[in-house]
Amino acid sequence: LPREQPYRTAYHFQPPNNWMNGITAHPFLGPMFYKGVYHLFYQYNPYAAVWGNISWAHSISYDLVDWIHLEPAINPSEPFDINGCWSGSTTFLHGGNPAILYTGADLKYRQFQNLVVPKNVSDPLLKEWVKSPLNPLLTPIDGIDPNNFRDPTTAWRGPDEVWRVIIGSMINGQGMALLYRSKDFVRWTRSKNPLHSSTKTGMWECPDFYPVSINSKNGVDSSARRKFTKHVLKASFNSSDHYILGDYTPKRDRYLVDTDFMDNGLDLRYDYGKFYASKTFYDGAKKRRILWGWVTESDSESDDIRKGWSGLQAIPRSIQLSSTGRQLVLWPIEELEKLRTQHVSFNDKELKGGSVFEVSGISAAQADVEVSFDLPNLDEAESIDPNSVDPQQLCSQKEASVRSTLGPFAGYESNSFYRSSLREGLDKTTYGAFVYLDHRDDKISLRSLIDHSIIESFGGDGRACITARVYPKVANDREAHLYMFNNGTRSVRISSLNAWSMKRAQIYSLRRRRKSP
Ligand code: FRU
Repeated sequence: LPREQPYRTAYHFQPPNNWMNGITAHPFLGPMFYKGVYHLFYQYNPYAAVWGNISWAHSISYDLVDWIHLEPAINPSEPFDINGCWSGSTTFLHGGNPAILYTGADLKYRQFQNLVVPKNVSDPLLKEWVKSPLNPLLTPIDGIDPNNFRDPTTAWRGPDEVWRVIIGSMINGQGMALLYRSKDFVRWTRSKNPLHSSTKTGMWECPDFYPVSINSKNGVDSSARRKFTKHVLKASFNSSDHYILGDYTPKRDRYLVDTDFMDNGLDLRYDYGKFYASKTFYDGAKKRRILWGWVTESDSESDDIRKGWSGLQAIPRSIQLSSTGRQLVLWPIEELEKLRTQHVSFNDKELKGGSVFEVSGISAAQADVEVSFDLPNLDEAESIDPNSVDPQQLCSQKEASVRSTLGPFAGYESNSFYRSSLREGLDKTTYGAFVYLDHRDDKISLRSLIDHSIIESFGGDGRACITARVYPKVANDREAHLYMFNNGTRSVRISSLNAWSMKRAQIYSLRRRRKSP
């Protein structure tokens, strides 16, 4: 990395420059004639490192690791999207051709849903897209707040062959997913009832709704007619991506939830750190559902302007229902492992109370680290009631250095400069989450993906994830170190540790730089 760009990542998705926010459409794997190309579209400002002039940038990949940036696929041009082509989703129509529904903002930031289709479906790169002459397809009428009407999901088809789509909204202070139906994907009728709503949240941005299998590890297509599924409803609010699980019947579009948003004691989130406006897509080639999420910067807007860029995508994660059926489990896609290089590993090592040791032999600023600890006898552990304790608050009050009998252990830092965050003016929020363990568990594990200015951590095999941004003052590879520590008074045992240096992903740009409009 050039010295003056120490915070750019080596294997995370980020545009060559400027502002990026949420995945606007789910990336999708084309049917055969698209030659197995993954397409990623995201919210992008072609002119600056701040939000504005939002276009749909377009990048393609054969493995979700290496990327080629193409020209933006959709740009503001019409009265109904002149202030921005905002989030939306792709859907494969009957014949297998993709279509995009997206939100356009007009001069007053009123929001409309619009359709675009590929100009030439035989182009495997789907470089050019055309706006439907019938746009806008959906307008904010009948009590819909024009400023809170956005982010259509991937549409799904019921047994009646009718398409359904949901759109994020807020009416009378309640967050909700408005439901629309259509036979031809062009004329849409609003359903009397939303698919779901909540009195405990504000506006739902970027909703997502999809089935997960109860009895298989495979993902499920949104329109599949399959028994033994649960449906996930995700909504973005309060700077986090929250989800609930329930049973969906297409007949009357009933969604009966197991637990609801912001229920006491059970706050299910994809990630308890920085992770927002995410989207999933079904990857038919590998029969899995994949999640993309946007990670903001924690430095200031003037830092972003100086750096010339803002925003990352987290490493895509595969999504499954946990074996208990009560939560989702997220794990970095297997393709990432092709970047693993130098490897260190050991088993069965005691970490005495109050001790620290360095794991050397890999480049700690660009690493993938997996560690598991034997679960100690928990009789001596402090007991916490998850219904009345907020784990993030708890972790903020009791930092890693506050000692108890058992731990804190298992945590580690990748750079002594990271933690102390010598730089001023950063958002230094401490994150925390509970990991639900099973009585059968005899180990507790943590995997972390470290990439210069981002750390993504997966606790308990993906049952709790936390993504954070870090801006070490001294960040070059040789000055980053990886440590294991145990700040408790009792010893704990590392049952295994595997750590790898990570290679850089190959990123090419076929995009031309643009001057201000
Ligand atoms: C999410 C979001 C969406 C909106 C888009 C605008 O971050 O606010 O609700 O469509 O970004 O860029």
